[in-house]
Amino acid sequence: MAILQVTRHGDPLLTARMEPIGDVTDEIRTLLDDMIDTMRNGETPGVGLAAPQVGRALPIIVAEPPPDHEGTEAVYNGAVVLMNPEIVYATGNTIIEEGCLSCPGVTAEVERPSHIVIKGLDRDGNAVKLEVEGALARIFQHEVDHLHGKFFFDHLNPIKRQLVKARIRRT
Ligand code: NI
Repeated sequence: MAILQVTRHGDPLLTARMEPIGDVTDEIRTLLDDMIDTMRNGETPGVGLAAPQVGRALPIIVAEPPPDHEGTEAVYNGAVVLMNPEIVYATGNTIIEEGCLSCPGVTAEVERPSHIVIKGLDRDGNAVKLEVEGALARIFQHEVDHLHGKFFFDHLNPIKRQLVKARIRRT
C-alpha cells in the first residue's frame, strides 16, 4: 500500500467525467489498495476518496463505512470500494455539512437525498447493488459527483456557491 498525492480544486481532472472501466486489472486493485491507504493515512484523513482526486482518470470510489454498517457487499479491508458506481434510486432529503480532501478546510451545508440505491462493481469485478442511508449514502453521493467532475459546492445556490469558491481560492 502507498499513500498517494491528493490533488486540489483547480486540477483539470476534478472537473472531468470518468469513462467506465471494462475489466478490473491488478493495476486497478493496487490503485484501490493505495486509495484506501491514502483515505486513512494520508496527510488529511477522510471518509471517502475518488480516483480523479489522486490523479487517475478512472471511475473508482472508496468509502469508510460507519461502525454500525452491517452490509458486507463491496467491502474490502474494511472499506467499501466501488467501480463504475451509479446511483439508480434516491429518495428523502437531508442537510449535512460536507468537506472535501481536494478543498481542505472548507465546508458547507449541502442538501441531498437521504436514501440511495447504488450499483457498481466490487474489487473482484462482481456486480453489486447496495441500499444505503445516513453517512454512507452521503459519502457515496459526494464521491460519485467527483466522477462527474462535480464538487459539493455545485449543489449550493449561486450566492452560497460563490462564497465557498472564494474561500477555497484563499486557502
Ligand atoms: Ni471530495
